[in-house]
Amino acid sequence: MSKSYNINQLDPLRFMARMEERQKRIAAAPAKEIVSDYEVNKLADALRPQKQFVRIQEVIERDADCKSFVLTADSEKGTKSLAYFSAGQYFTVFLDIEGMKLTRAYSISSSPKEALEGKYMLTVKSVQDGLASRYILDNWKVGDSVEVSAPEGFEHGFVTADLIRKYAPDTPYSVFLCGPQQMYAFVDKELEKLSLERKYIRHELFGEMHNPKTQADYPGCASDTIRITVTVRDETRTVTGSANDSVLQILEKNGIRVPSRCRSGECGWCHSRLISGKVYIPKEIDGRRMADLKYGYIHPCATFALSDLEIEVPAAK
Ligand code: FES
Repeated sequence: MSKSYNINQLDPLRFMARMEERQKRIAAAPAKEIVSDYEVNKLADALRPQKQFVRIQEVIERDADCKSFVLTADSEKGTKSLAYFSAGQYFTVFLDIEGMKLTRAYSISSSPKEALEGKYMLTVKSVQDGLASRYILDNWKVGDSVEVSAPEGFEHGFVTADLIRKYAPDTPYSVFLCGPQQMYAFVDKELEKLSLERKYIRHELFGEMHNPKTQADYPGCASDTIRITVTVRDETRTVTGSANDSVLQILEKNGIRVPSRCRSGECGWCHSRLISGKVYIPKEIDGRRMADLKYGYIHPCATFALSDLEIEVPAAK
């Protein structure tokens, strides 16, 4: 319980004497700010840095459309050692392709032990309409420096309806899925047997959707070209792009860097406000919460414009 004071019993002279002492101490203090270097902060930075700079040590050709890149810490750019990761995690690669600010999530294809030995391996395969993967395969070479995020996501696992029933509690629970899209297609069907609400099912990384026309419920867009008026902090621009691209892809192709990680509607990094316009959000990658629906928030990575849009996006750090 806090101590209570009677204002009439306070001694103003004693208080004044303390003021004098306080001013003396302030005058004697060093002009430079004291920077505290706490061990726990250093550990947190090592485990989960904001970004990492890595250098390509080796390029391994797998076939005409697939290469592996061995990456080491780029100490010249300030990354002394690589962050550790768990099996199945991915990191985001930051790319600048002729002014387009792109991010792409790639699973780390080496073992966590190799990160302890100072190496990551990234394996990139060309995908249809894959601007970033094609760029990486054609341009990355030994000695190049690359910017990546800290490892993200959860560990891989495999689930079936029976397995979940066996271990699930009676109380409400959530299911987190990690794996390739084929696995999601299978497990999502299994989950339908459990009648779990969508909000209790999370996908670690569904994979970026490139063309909404492949979706059975896509309503179609009246125009092939979309205008998006976008506000980032206090700057507003109007850009144009293809209706086949996600809102995130259109912004990136116009040189606007938006925070993003999973690129598949799950992580929430690109969470943005839709001010006006109509959009299509495929249900497989619709990771919005109830509050997002209520207040008009979208994930641009999982959203396709059906009309001209006006949106407000967070600034990338
Ligand atoms: S980047 Fe993860 S939700 Fe958009």
